Amino acid sequence: MKLWATSDLHVGYDENRRAVQALPSYPDDWLIIAGDTGETPAHLDFVLRTLQPRFAQLIWTPGNHDLWTPRTLPADQRGVAHYERLVKLCQKYGVLTPEDPYARWPGDGPTRAIVPTFLLFDYSFRPASVSREQAIQWAADSGVRSADEDLLAPDPYPTRDEWCAARVAATEARLAALPKDVKLIVANHFPLRQDLAVLPRIPRFSIWCGTTKTHDWHRRFTIEAAVYGHLHLRSSRVIDGTRFDEVSLGYPKQWNQSKALADYLRRIL
Ligand SMILES: [Fe+2]
Ligand SMILES: [Fe+2]
Repeated sequence: MKLWATSDLHVGYDENRRAVQALPSYPDDWLIIAGDTGETPAHLDFVLRTLQPRFAQLIWTPGNHDLWTPRTLPADQRGVAHYERLVKLCQKYGVLTPEDPYARWPGDGPTRAIVPTFLLFDYSFRPASVSREQAIQWAADSGVRSADEDLLAPDPYPTRDEWCAARVAATEARLAALPKDVKLIVANHFPLRQDLAVLPRIPRFSIWCGTTKTHDWHRRFTIEAAVYGHLHLRSSRVIDGTRFDEVSLGYPKQWNQSKALADYLRRIL
């Protein structure tokens, strides 16, 4: 059995939707879906409904796009409430989420746990000379602004920063409680380190790409591999012995339309 990973399926685009539909079955294998299935619960539902029967187990973590809600939605249905709605949708399909107990990997090798995390971003991926208060204007000065500013509501937290801090603290406590001899396969939509959030064409978009609070998690915890997406820039590298894999499919122009989604699944184990 194998562990595969993908992210940023963005099935709001027809090309991507067809690619998901055309993926063959991997009945013995597990698949991590590391966020940005699309922009609505219906998009997530399509991905889960299509792929759940084709894998032995799916693992999901939300991306920023999955968390978008219309501004007209009441606050008690946005932010955390919307996230919890998506979690319930996953659980209906038997898909593992950041809210479930971490699954033990049933394949060969050392004891491993599959750890989906939802850590968000807090604008800290910025130069030391730029303050948090200046960060959004600093990005705007280069013509960059994330739609998350308008569509990713943090309710009932006052800010996305505070929601991120709460997610980081709760996740850190869970990781610290795991036995040290268990190797972790972490799946988070955002990269865990600022040096991975490098976007050559829109460098200041980095403020919407993660949190410096997780910079040393691969050293503090026994992380064998950290899977992420969000950047739409596929990569694989090793830092301090930990493998970091950006596994996104991305928008239709960002993948080769003569290939299939199967060509873009990244084998993790
Ligand atoms: Fe994305
Ligand atoms: Fe994203």
